[in-house]
Amino acid sequence: MSAHPEQHQQKVTVRSLQAMKQAGEKIACLTAYDASFAQVLDRAGVDVVLVGDSLGMVVQGNETTLPVTMSDMLYHSKAVSRGLSRSMLMVDMPYLSYTSAQSALEHAGSFMQQANAQMVKLEGGAEQAEIVSRLAQHGIPVCAHLGLQPQRVHKLGGYRVQGREQDAADAMLDEAQQLEQAGADMMLLECVPQQLADNITQALAIPVIGIGAGAGCDGQILVLYDILGISKGRIPKFSRDFMAETGSIEAAVKSYVEVVKKCQFPGSEHVFS
Ligand code: KIV
Repeated sequence: MSAHPEQHQQKVTVRSLQAMKQAGEKIACLTAYDASFAQVLDRAGVDVVLVGDSLGMVVQGNETTLPVTMSDMLYHSKAVSRGLSRSMLMVDMPYLSYTSAQSALEHAGSFMQQANAQMVKLEGGAEQAEIVSRLAQHGIPVCAHLGLQPQRVHKLGGYRVQGREQDAADAMLDEAQQLEQAGADMMLLECVPQQLADNITQALAIPVIGIGAGAGCDGQILVLYDILGISKGRIPKFSRDFMAETGSIEAAVKSYVEVVKKCQFPGSEHVFS
């Protein structure tokens, strides 16, 4: 079987994502951790494939994403890269791999050089602006990640919705704008109230991707194993088991892409207020 079955299709880039936001076309994103699944996602029309540090939980079986190393991320990113043709490859910066602008540059550079990454994602607010700016100066596109930040789970005291209080919501909007000004090319919002996600999406020129953030975002992302119903434990409120509805992996991913594009997912049962 060909590793690149649809080479005629144009690769998704930061420019095409920007154009999708401007045109009001929803951006469909999913995680993947190996070449075979990556190929299925690429064929199904997923726009952005994230090698998430969620692999620490869904692949390695850990309780959190904290044990994931650079070496783990490089291994999985290289594998995913070999399965992609059209989709953009985004890679998560693992815990403690961006404690300074210099270490962020070295580690993000490794993803770009060794795994063909087109964008890196890092968690954190305004305190990351300097790092975002340094990566941007070196031509490395960055997706900033606000709201629930799983790498801070112990500080947060659990996986909880963020930005419910007015001062926290105001602070998140302000931090989103600072990260955009620092050079971020995309924003991911995890587990934030729908109204706040809508406000941030409207305030930013860059695409905003939501997970547990409502249908008003420019795009959606979910963890692949959740939509296939094979994650350990119960699937989160904001996710949906597309495998149970369709019966095959390929059909489940296609159905996810279709409902995201048609703005039929997430529904009111998947959002927080
Ligand atoms: O690691 C991951 O899978 C993520 C998702 C929450 C999008 O960051």
